[in-house]
Amino acid sequence: MANNKLTEAKVAKNDEFYTQYHDIEKEISAYLEFNPDVFRGKTVLLPCDDPEWSNFTKYFAHNFERFGLKKLISTSYAVESKNYKSVYQPTLFETSNPEFDKIKTTKNGKIFTLSHDKTGDHKVNVDDLEWHYLAGDGDFRSSEIKKLRDESDVIITNPPFSLFREFLAWILETDKKFVLIGNKNCVTYKEVFPLFMENKMWSGRTEWSGGMWFETKDPNDVDKVIDGVNMKNVASVWFSNIDHGRRHEHIPLMTMADNLKYSKHKEIKGKKSYDYYDNYNAIEVPYTDSIPSDYDGMMGVPITFLDKYSPEQFEIVGITKTWFGAATKIYPPQIQVSANGKKSNVTKLNDGATLKLDSPPHGQTHYMVDNEYFTQLYARVLIKHRKEKK
Ligand SMILES: C[S@@+](CC[C@H](N)C(=O)[O-])C[C@H]1O[C@@H](n2cnc3c(N)ncnc32)[C@H](O)[C@@H]1O
Repeated sequence: MANNKLTEAKVAKNDEFYTQYHDIEKEISAYLEFNPDVFRGKTVLLPCDDPEWSNFTKYFAHNFERFGLKKLISTSYAVESKNYKSVYQPTLFETSNPEFDKIKTTKNGKIFTLSHDKTGDHKVNVDDLEWHYLAGDGDFRSSEIKKLRDESDVIITNPPFSLFREFLAWILETDKKFVLIGNKNCVTYKEVFPLFMENKMWSGRTEWSGGMWFETKDPNDVDKVIDGVNMKNVASVWFSNIDHGRRHEHIPLMTMADNLKYSKHKEIKGKKSYDYYDNYNAIEVPYTDSIPSDYDGMMGVPITFLDKYSPEQFEIVGITKTWFGAATKIYPPQIQVSANGKKSNVTKLNDGATLKLDSPPHGQTHYMVDNEYFTQLYARVLIKHRKEKK
């Protein structure tokens, strides 16, 4: 019970990470570089935001004219509906407005819109934002926000981490363009991976390594403080279905023979050949930069490959997870030997790609089946070189 409460608290807290302005700028600039008119004449919706101080709202309001936007809509979630409770103080911006309502300030969400010059300075910018309380709490699943989704062309946000699957499904109910932040590991979800396979969603422009730094509201869980702001590093990445240039860059690769001779990775250099999975028809490629340029068959690569994936260079065939269902072998129940030698009966060897070992490895979790030894690998994306179209 206590553990459940702890997990709930952690999940709630993870829903409250705030995106930095320069991260938004770096990501969005790439879509504009690829297509300068990508937002022209478009209505952009920023849901799950906190418009008074959200960098998403600021960034798009600042660039409203440059991007040629038709309308910007940004909505927030009611303070009382949030799972994570922190001290709440309405901003001066809100309290000094005649619309301010003591009850609605915590019970209702807010909507900010920008579409025309309100101040009469012949510019459309942050000063022209108009706001109201929403009728409801701003839950993206409510009919009120669904209506806004339906009237918009592009949806951009860092949604609550705990509701990522639901949020993505909510977008996919429509055929909208989107740019989202999510946890790197969500690419293995059965709701997400097929979208990568079918080139309906891909990595954003920002590289995956190093995670992302967010402002956090929890003073007890801080990785560093920058200019007095508490920051947390999270394994988050950008996802989109809007095209950008990095997506079409090919990964520079060596031949299999050269990898085996010159690779900088000890797992490859000096070996006679790449390892072959015991339960899939594919070779194991432990690093994306070790993909052999001249191998025609199927290859299993770490999920971080998706950060570098170009659809012109590779075809994604599947992922080594039970639901993919392409295993060539089903193991009977196994004995798992943990790093400290503890043995237990399990069936998890069927959950992913395995390598057969000549002898039991020391100090490393492995599995025994009928006196044979195996290790299991992390999730692997199964890929093939895309054949040149003749
Ligand atoms: C990860 S934060 C990101 C906030 C902002 N988009 C940003 O990146 O700076 C997610 C936000 O969604 C809000 N939220 C949580 N559940 C929600 C829901 N069901 N509907 C709408 N917003 C929700 C959270 O309270 C939080 O403000």
